Amino acid sequence: MAKAPEPSTIDWANLGFNYMDLPYRFIAHYADGKWDDGELTEDATLHISEGSTGLHYGQADFEGLKAYRTKDGEINLFRPDQNAARMHKSCERLLMPAFPEDKFIAAVKSVVKANADYVPPYGTGGTLYLRPLMIGVGGNIGVHPAQEYIFTVFAMPVGAYYKGGVTPTNFTTSYYDRAAPHGTGQSKVGGNYGGSLLPGDEAHKAGYSDVIYLDPATHKKIEEAGSANFFGVTKDNEFVTPKSDSILPSITKYSLLYLAEHNLGMTPVQGDVFIDDLDRFTEAGAMGTAAVIAPIGGIEYHDKLHVFYSETEVGPVTQKLYDTLTGIQFGDVEAPEGWIQKV
Ligand code: PLP
Ligand code: COI
Repeated sequence: MAKAPEPSTIDWANLGFNYMDLPYRFIAHYADGKWDDGELTEDATLHISEGSTGLHYGQADFEGLKAYRTKDGEINLFRPDQNAARMHKSCERLLMPAFPEDKFIAAVKSVVKANADYVPPYGTGGTLYLRPLMIGVGGNIGVHPAQEYIFTVFAMPVGAYYKGGVTPTNFTTSYYDRAAPHGTGQSKVGGNYGGSLLPGDEAHKAGYSDVIYLDPATHKKIEEAGSANFFGVTKDNEFVTPKSDSILPSITKYSLLYLAEHNLGMTPVQGDVFIDDLDRFTEAGAMGTAAVIAPIGGIEYHDKLHVFYSETEVGPVTQKLYDTLTGIQFGDVEAPEGWIQKV
């Protein structure tokens, strides 16, 4: 894998969402019942046993968060404490030893600082995406939790995740489920994404940005997209998003529920979103760290495309939500207490 290009040669405004081997990442090891302090390293390759549970049995979880360059050149992290807490929960679900939450945040900051030249300039729309990852390692073969683990945080500059950015794209429902009713849907674990590759590929080949998964028990209610939560806006000024135990508790979603109410004067609603009742929405979108807010033009269901606001133009409420959220992240709009941490 080639090393990342020199920062001065990067086209920051057209990054897309691609891996880049930056100069530094953080790595810590767990053995004999405890984590070591970890350190920054230039080695982008993990050296692990063939018996690693992360390879065979999906004992692997991860996070995704971003660092943002502000107008005055500082660097903001958006709610990293929430990522630390969610990774702790994912670890509990997979019987992995959580990396201490304060040390998680310190590790993320150290990686941003060490690669600061790769935090895209303000105004380009680019951000530095951070990927905390934990895997079970060591010599194992029975289906049991590993005795040893690796926690790493690596980073890369990114742009739009869905090719449209803030231009609407279409999504499709699928025969496949992303998660089981009492499975691992609410944890950010590798297995959820392995299972989403085939339906995602079918969706992409048919020209859609991503799958909108339906609830695995009845296939009547919207759950979420493959890499983002779903929201709809009603004519009564409601911000509606599905409530389900099998979706990922999106930090962007909880942030927008708050901002819709406090900054936009909307009514936040978490509840059932029936797939045959999409007429109630005047706008819809997908939201997440990578996706930011991606307007949904239409959703295909049973060979019909249901269009919300427009297939080509972002709706006014979605645009306001986008401006408010990204304004806070890039430091242009006042953030609720504790949402921004300086690097
Ligand atoms: N849903 C899934 C399946 C995801 O992978 C993500 C990405 O993290 C999200 C939702 C959005 O979560 P967040 O807003 O915390 O990034
Ligand atoms: C994120 O939004 O951080 C994600 O993890 C989504 C995807 C890249 C898996």
